[in-house]
Amino acid sequence: MAAVQFTSLCKTFRDFFGRRRVKALDGLSLSVEPGQVFGLLGPNGSGKSTTFKIAVGMLRPDSGQAAIMGHAPGTMAARRATGFLPEESSLLPFLTARETLRLHGALAGLSRRDAARRADELLERVGLTHAAGRRVNGFSKGMQRRLGVASVLLGDPQVFILDEPTSGLDPLGAVEMKALIAELRAKGKAVLISSHLLGELENVCDRVAFLSGGKLLCEGSLEELLRDKTTHELRVSPPDAAAVAELEATARRLGLNVVSSRAPMRSLEAFYLSVLGKGPKP
Ligand SMILES: Nc1ncnc2c1ncn2[C@@H]1O[C@H](COP(=O)(O)OP(=O)(O)O)[C@@H](O)[C@H]1O
Ligand SMILES: [Mg+2]
Repeated sequence: MAAVQFTSLCKTFRDFFGRRRVKALDGLSLSVEPGQVFGLLGPNGSGKSTTFKIAVGMLRPDSGQAAIMGHAPGTMAARRATGFLPEESSLLPFLTARETLRLHGALAGLSRRDAARRADELLERVGLTHAAGRRVNGFSKGMQRRLGVASVLLGDPQVFILDEPTSGLDPLGAVEMKALIAELRAKGKAVLISSHLLGELENVCDRVAFLSGGKLLCEGSLEELLRDKTTHELRVSPPDAAAVAELEATARRLGLNVVSSRAPMRSLEAFYLSVLGKGPKP
């Protein structure tokens, strides 16, 4: 059974007078399996948040179906199975980070002691221990995002639906978010995430779908979509010039085109992390 299943979802928003305005979703079908990280990519207004709101029962589709672990959105079983991080997390400004998580824990049915323990564990997990006693209204967007993620983790659901989880996070925060998502996958959770930034999802998703105007443009595993089957890359170490020249000559002798042969560039992200002392050293 799919963890998340959408079948031919359509949704049109109407204005105040009931006139049709925006076709937000136009026959969207897709499914996410347990242990899979699925990225929904698309420009602003392509229907990502609408899809997620339908998945958690905040919106009803005009036609089509959604199911979470086989349950209709909004039912108790579906709600228990789902952790939802909305696009804009709504936090109570007068509570501290720790109080926020204890409250969410109590709402999720944890005992006072368990809620307190889980709150501290999760603050540590999302890197907010230093700000545990601070009121949420002084938090930056990135800190609010981290706290939102911690509250989604509280109930230990099977399915995570995260709307733009990396928005507002600094590069290090985004890397930590991706590590956390990878951890969820390793635990067999299904993770559905959205982003309007392509690079954000590249090394975290198993499958991606491109949405535009509420329609699916294409869908597939990153392997299917991105693997270049027309060339082969060989990396050698150390980059000994004479040996490389000989390898190139051998390739030509074998009738191959040498398309490129150079020292590879690191990504800006990898460089930034190494400057912060968080990644592999140059
Ligand atoms: N409550 C609403 N009322 C009217 N139009 C809406 C509403 N919510 C979303 N829309 C419209 O539906 C389209 C899809 O929006 P959304 O799902 O939020 O896109 P995304 O999350 O991909 O940026 C947009 O054109 C948006 O303006
Ligand atoms: Mg959105």
